Amino acid sequence: MNILIFGPPGAGKGTQSALMVERMGMKHISTGDLFRSAIKNKTPLGIEAKSFIDSGKLVPDQVTIKMVEEVLEQINGTSFILDGFPRNVTQAQALEGLLDRVKLTLNKAVFLEVPAEDLVDRLSGRRTCRSCGAVYHVVTKPLKNGKSCDNCGSQDIYQREDDKAESIRTRLKVYEESTKPLKDYYAKKGNLVEVKGFGTAEGVYTSIKQALKN
Ligand code: AP5
Repeated sequence: MNILIFGPPGAGKGTQSALMVERMGMKHISTGDLFRSAIKNKTPLGIEAKSFIDSGKLVPDQVTIKMVEEVLEQINGTSFILDGFPRNVTQAQALEGLLDRVKLTLNKAVFLEVPAEDLVDRLSGRRTCRSCGAVYHVVTKPLKNGKSCDNCGSQDIYQREDDKAESIRTRLKVYEESTKPLKDYYAKKGNLVEVKGFGTAEGVYTSIKQALKN
């Protein structure tokens, strides 16, 4: 099954994708992670994307679509989860063209719904391991020993630049204007699945699994 997962910033897309990768063996295609890796490696793509990402704006469509195209061309039949793409209707239409060309089908578009008042707490408290990308939260998912990553042991745990107050405000606005309309888009296509993204991460995962079966 090939799916995409979308929702507001901080809805838990990355958290749920990680669980699906671990338990269902799917390939995770996260445009945010791809951009952050390009920034870390100071590639031309990373240099171009950095200022957009740090300020909470979308990276231009043509750059993002080309990046996703290159990944999908090499997917070789593995089931995938697209996380963070598409982000607007232009990208959604481009995705259809890309999938047609590589002869793949999108089975479901999972929308994670989280109350707006929870999102700022989730984003401002998030911490990420720079080495392996594992995601924590200072209150709801702290490091087990308080200083190093539970997953890889690195002590390089940081706060994303776009998780600071001003960027969070911009990201929420961009979401409302550009990404939220995708709910209607996928409802009309007949493959929208809506899941409540609050409660424990395990509970949300169970709801997604159930919704994908129906
Ligand atoms: P991206 O990395 O995709 O950011 P985002 O969509 O804003 O999503 P986040 O990564 O912030 O949140 P998430 O939903 O994955 O939540 P998480 O699981 O981490 O994109 C970053 C930037 O890249 C964009 O702003 C843009 O500039 C650029 N970009 C990316 N894609 C693009 C595209 N297609 N086009 C153009 N530009 C693009 O969880 C968040 C926190 O909540 C964590 O601390 C976690 O522990 C906690 N949490 C998770 N689940 C729960 C739960 N059930 N209960 C309580 N806390 C929870």
